[in-house]
Amino acid sequence: MQRSFNNTSAASIESSRIAHPIGTALDRFIKNNQAQFQYASGELSQLLRDIALASKVVNREVNKAGLIDIMGAVGSQNMAGDEQQKLDVLANIRFTRALAKGGEVCALVSEESESFVDLNNEGQYMIAIDPLDGSSNIDVNVSIGTIFSIYRRKSPAGTPIQQIDILQKGSDQVAAGYVLYGSSTMLVYTTGHGVNGFTYEPTLGEYFLSHPTMRIPEDGRIYSINEGLTNSFAAPVRDYIQFCKDENYSARYVGSLVADFHRNLLKGGIYIYPATAKDPNGKLRLMYECNALAYLAEQAGGSATTGKDRILDIELKDLHQRTAFYVGSRNMVEKAASFS
Ligand code: AHG
Ligand code: MN
Ligand code: MN
Repeated sequence: MQRSFNNTSAASIESSRIAHPIGTALDRFIKNNQAQFQYASGELSQLLRDIALASKVVNREVNKAGLIDIMGAVGSQNMAGDEQQKLDVLANIRFTRALAKGGEVCALVSEESESFVDLNNEGQYMIAIDPLDGSSNIDVNVSIGTIFSIYRRKSPAGTPIQQIDILQKGSDQVAAGYVLYGSSTMLVYTTGHGVNGFTYEPTLGEYFLSHPTMRIPEDGRIYSINEGLTNSFAAPVRDYIQFCKDENYSARYVGSLVADFHRNLLKGGIYIYPATAKDPNGKLRLMYECNALAYLAEQAGGSATTGKDRILDIELKDLHQRTAFYVGSRNMVEKAASFS
């Protein structure tokens, strides 16, 4: 049978081939897809490049973590004579510096800073970041990550930063992503047009597209929760855990949110950090942990809730606000909620 394409379908096939071939370098990918952004000024592209660059610097520090410990044991100074700094503080400095220099970001919210950081420039974007997630895993050589959310500022550039620029709902994000410093380093991000994953090639110092158009399976058989805290969970959470056991699901919990999320994104699963006796509002932070992953989950076909309500709809009242967090395969998140 003779096949024919009209102009439109031929063009769209061609453009998807250009936009998503495996092995495309991150810079080229960002450039090829820039026209998708609502504000195609190139600023968001530059911002993503700044984040990628800072992540490469952090990756270098993360890879040296064990060595730094050894050197730290000899004396508390590194070879350059600087005081040793905790890796999460260092990561915060690296990202803040890269974003400040870039000039696209006017304000930054970070786990490491009590208040937001006003970068005093004309930048149109606000960033919320967990520079190093899973920091308790650094010393034991287990995967850690960086999580970021990007928002447009709401007040006009050139005027003082206002609360409405900072306390934005997750649904206002224009881009979000994470870096996973794992057996290989990956950058996974979305600008609201699906989720793409890039793997870092250290000898070339470049990220390459390795996971185009990521989709989370609708169902899965992995549950990720700190089960040691079971006694302080509410009855519906305990019942759901029992359901997972009855179904012979696998329990997998790294204790690094990024690593647990990434595995479940690829394989199908659910991550839960519910309210506990110690943290009645949940432990995880809405602005720089949950919102980014919720956006990515939805963009990949999954979902994210508090166990009841959609994460991306939660009104922000505080920079360091916490929430209960259920994220992952759509049917699993729904099932877990049905126990409430
Ligand atoms: P951070 O290292 O940025 O403080 O975040 C740690 C978070 C998250 O990565 C992880 O899923 C969770 O805390 C683990 O908490 P528990 O040790 O209470 O399970
Ligand atoms: Mn964290
Ligand atoms: Mn952190």
